[in-house]
Amino acid sequence: MRVTVVGSGYVGTTLAACLADAGHDVTAVDIDPDVVAALNDGRAAIHEPGLDDLLAEHAGERLHATTEYDGVSDADVTFLAIGTPSRADGSIDLGPLTAAAEMTGEAIAGGSEGSAAEGNPEDRHLVVVKSTITPPGVGAIREALRAGAGDAADRVELATNPEFLREGSAVDDFQHPDKLVFGTDSDWAAERLDSLYEPLLAATGSEVPVIRTDPETAVMIKYANNAFLASKISLANDLGNVCKRFGIDAYEVMDAVGLDDRIGSQFLRSGVGWGGSCFPKDVDAIRAAAREAGYEPPMLDAAVAVNDGQPDRMLDLLDAHVDVAGERVAVLGLAFKPGTDDVRNSRAIPIIEALQARGADVVGYDPVATDTMREHFPDLEYADSAAAALDGASAALVVTDWDEFAALDDAFDAMADPVVIDGRRIIERRDGLTYEGLTW
Ligand code: UDX
Repeated sequence: MRVTVVGSGYVGTTLAACLADAGHDVTAVDIDPDVVAALNDGRAAIHEPGLDDLLAEHAGERLHATTEYDGVSDADVTFLAIGTPSRADGSIDLGPLTAAAEMTGEAIAGGSEGSAAEGNPEDRHLVVVKSTITPPGVGAIREALRAGAGDAADRVELATNPEFLREGSAVDDFQHPDKLVFGTDSDWAAERLDSLYEPLLAATGSEVPVIRTDPETAVMIKYANNAFLASKISLANDLGNVCKRFGIDAYEVMDAVGLDDRIGSQFLRSGVGWGGSCFPKDVDAIRAAAREAGYEPPMLDAAVAVNDGQPDRMLDLLDAHVDVAGERVAVLGLAFKPGTDDVRNSRAIPIIEALQARGADVVGYDPVATDTMREHFPDLEYADSAAAALDGASAALVVTDWDEFAALDDAFDAMADPVVIDGRRIIERRDGLTYEGLTW
């Protein structure tokens, strides 16, 4: 099939590369000429395992990038994968996505004139929203698409197809999904999505459930999914804080709890909490949308409150052992999770701010995220290794569960005072340290 993917960010690039790999002819559209040039050159602007290989293989063959919307009218399916950034009140800003929907409508109308004139009134276009939008947002994007299409509006149909991929395993998650969710208003649109995903599903070698529903329900599934996972971690953190009060190891407790099939063992790792580009933004967006509709969701509010409180608990444990004013303090791990240089909503940010407020001399270390964190804290000292960060430090706070931190051993001996507050239960050495686990 001929597919256009509008937006070459994280999701759009992964989608374009994987659809080309599945055998489709893909055109990626982006307003940034540098991103377009990189894609045509077989390179991604983001780092994701396996992505560059796919781009290198298909660029110039089944994958082309452009800054123009011209080709949209010839496509069998057009995906909108434009970011939906958060506003101050937590709701999402649909501005960029609305503009893209309108331009897509205009491009379809421009191309359709010729096609209709050639006696093809059945020329229908499917536009699929990949971006994460709330249920009320679906109507707004549909309107923008129809407004752009003008007289051709009746030949344009909107669908939603939310994405569940994780950073660090985006390609693999896309190619081996737990489920596919098609939100459509017609059998025609559902069948078109079936055909599009057919080669991908055939290649997975396993039975992937396909949920066929309406566009609003489909996007709600995405929010419910992420809100559930974030709340699951927050509940593990809440229980973990209780365990800590009783001197009980929360990991021993949750390992046993996770054996209950109804609960499951994943996303029960308690500690300093969740960050990243999705959980904080999505939980805030669905809370804001619910509030707007007259309902304040207490469980989701609590999930955020517990998450916001975890860095404070880490600092409380630190304060109980050392006054860090004027002292060197190492922050180990800056990325929001291991395997990425993404620091968006990383727990390291409130931790560093709180240390600075206490007058500490903070030194940060991360195997890959130093450059991205420099944008938040340009004047912070950054070490080249965990050992260099620990050297002479009066305390260390462990914020990201990078494997290399588990192997730290003698490096702690170079600390001025070996107070270690572990937010991820990653440090294996305990003897000779004043060690505090956040929930154990
Ligand atoms: C998440 C969802 O998993 C994915 O389905 C969705 O499409 C986007 O959001 P991602 O943000 O890439 O993916 O990271 P994920 O691996 O889910 O971790 C999110 C955060 O939760 C990280 O900060 C991580 O450290 C934290 N986490 C995860 C915990 O604190 N404990 C856990 O048990 C699991």
